[in-house]
Amino acid sequence: MFGTKKKEIPQIDKEQLELIKHAQKRIKQKKGLYTHFILFLIGSVAVIVANLGLHMGETFRPLGTDWFVLVIAAWSVFLVYHAFNVFVIHRFMGSSWQQEQLDLLVAKQKEGIEKLKAKLPNSETTATALISNKKPTNKQNLTLIVAASENNAIGKDNQLIWHLRDDLQRFKSLTSGHCIIMGRKTFESFPKPLPNRTHIVVTNQQKYKAPHGVIVVHNMDDALDAALEDKHPYVIGGGEIYKQALPFADRIELTRVHETFEADTHFPELDPSVWREIQNIHHPKDENNDYAFSFMTYERI
Ligand SMILES: NC(=O)c1ccc[n+]([C@@H]2O[C@H](COP(=O)([O-])OP(=O)(O)OC[C@H]3O[C@@H](n4cnc5c(N)ncnc54)[C@H](OP(=O)(O)O)[C@@H]3O)[C@@H](O)[C@H]2O)c1
Repeated sequence: MFGTKKKEIPQIDKEQLELIKHAQKRIKQKKGLYTHFILFLIGSVAVIVANLGLHMGETFRPLGTDWFVLVIAAWSVFLVYHAFNVFVIHRFMGSSWQQEQLDLLVAKQKEGIEKLKAKLPNSETTATALISNKKPTNKQNLTLIVAASENNAIGKDNQLIWHLRDDLQRFKSLTSGHCIIMGRKTFESFPKPLPNRTHIVVTNQQKYKAPHGVIVVHNMDDALDAALEDKHPYVIGGGEIYKQALPFADRIELTRVHETFEADTHFPELDPSVWREIQNIHHPKDENNDYAFSFMTYERI
């Protein structure tokens, strides 16, 4: 599924750099708030011990109450203000900037669609486009993109199991210009970061070292937050991350490989009462693709 064959030099354009900087700023802001909270807890215990335990300023009772109560109350207000700043005021970068980013991403999406359309008449594909009742949404459009066999196998020994040239091309054209969220193992299965995409890598390792430009986070919540400015981020695997991201996804781009494989990593079973198939494009086996497959698009009902 991934375009790792060619040795390309990763390129980060200006807009992606801005996304990365913003994501790093957000992570710093959240860490600052966390530190503030810890200091608040320690400080609160300290003033309680000073006032009640060590009897410091015991006779000083402004507003008829112990002074430590007022100190903690004032600090709580400051802490709430800090949290409000992080989660509400600084969550967005300004409407004109966001509009610019949206226009840019829409243009890139259109370019990708045009490329796909251009390929269709030359290939022996049959398309069954089902009618989509897309619900209007103003939130992030999170897409899981995956290639899975008939038994939902997706990988073995931290590698893909098959080579399907057309699937790699589709993956590249859909994800280019976007944030791609992945688990540490999937990231390490690439020889180097994929060009023209913002990598967000999830790991529990606090000191994980990644190449410049790669965003490292430690839970799914922060991964989605880091991709906030992208209106169409992709989750690209592997098994652990798909499982955790599925409840947040709006769409699944599934390449169903029409074969059964032995594997150590699988894609979760899709619940038909939650996911509706809206497109199914069959592609037969040929000289560039070792197996027959179908590009299937699912939307959350
Ligand atoms: N067919 C496809 O479309 C496709 C796509 C992608 C990948 N794959 C295949 O899938 C396999 C890899 O999948 P996988 O399930 O083994 O690994 P993975 O999902 O790529 O990565 C798992 C790692 O992610 C980190 N992680 C997961 N959840 C986390 C959380 N909530 N918080 C913090 N860190 C978290 C952990 O890293 P640490 O251990 O560093 O803490 C964990 O070991 C490979 O075979 C790959 O080729 C297939």
